[in-house]
Amino acid sequence: MVNPDRTTAQPRGNPDDQPTELNLDKPDTGRMYDYYLGGKDNFAIDRAAAEAIIQVNPDTRVLARQNRAFVARAAEYCTRHLGQRQFLDIGTGLPTHPNVYETVLGIDPDARLIGVDNNPIVRAHDTALLPAGEIHIREGDLRELDPLFALLAPLVHWDEPVTLILGAVMHFIPGDAGTIVAAFRDRMATGSCLVLSHATSPDNGPQVVADAQRVYDRSSAPFVPRGRSEIAALFDGFVLEPPDLVDVGDWRNDEEQPTPDGVRILGGVGVLGPSTS
Ligand SMILES: C[S@@+](CC[C@H](N)C(=O)[O-])C[C@H]1O[C@@H](n2cnc3c(N)ncnc32)[C@H](O)[C@@H]1O
Repeated sequence: MVNPDRTTAQPRGNPDDQPTELNLDKPDTGRMYDYYLGGKDNFAIDRAAAEAIIQVNPDTRVLARQNRAFVARAAEYCTRHLGQRQFLDIGTGLPTHPNVYETVLGIDPDARLIGVDNNPIVRAHDTALLPAGEIHIREGDLRELDPLFALLAPLVHWDEPVTLILGAVMHFIPGDAGTIVAAFRDRMATGSCLVLSHATSPDNGPQVVADAQRVYDRSSAPFVPRGRSEIAALFDGFVLEPPDLVDVGDWRNDEEQPTPDGVRILGGVGVLGPSTS
């Protein structure tokens, strides 16, 4: 039987949401990422900053494409092989192809997807452009956990497994990233998944990071790469699926990938074991 909810365009944003004004005073990390991916949802101020980053770290576009493809492959893996049917994608970004929504709904049209981003342009575009299905897009900020969990309360079924996706977002959040991930983990049911990718410092010296940080310091968020062990610690309580935490281009990818020179992004998928507390 055809589900009428999936054959008509659905309002994806909360009808009570007040529109937030776009900030065009500063380059925006989400719009810069869109530019790296070859999207059109960016402004001159974003393109100038993105070009400055590419100057500093020439493989940035390759890295962005590898990251986006990793998130889609990981979402596919969680749907097909780990039986996940509920997804919470925070820092979801613009719906440049390939995206989590089209990937998951292409496999399981009944899956439930909740996307959150602190960038109002993401909500506006995702609401208009995403495929039909049970998709809820909201504006929210990972640094403000109380309002974020209040926003998610009517949307996320915490008593059922949920795949939390944190794709290339935690490296825009300074401070104790572990506490943020743990706040989600403590609400998640056994068998839930964590898909996370995160920039890490390159082997060839800190200069590229310092130069990139100077550019991002003038943008909507600072750039905070973390070491491999710090990123691995974000999976505390989760058991990493093979191949563990690796360069995003290499995660369950049959196609040979170049290892980017400069900044790298590591990614992994973990499954939450039973709580020990
Ligand atoms: C590099 S993009 C990654 C998009 C997507 N997750 C992916 O991996 O392809 C980072 C996204 O995180 C969002 N973001 C940055 N800081 C955030 C925060 N504190 N709370 C929520 N979203 C945030 C940005 O607006 C942007 O859309």
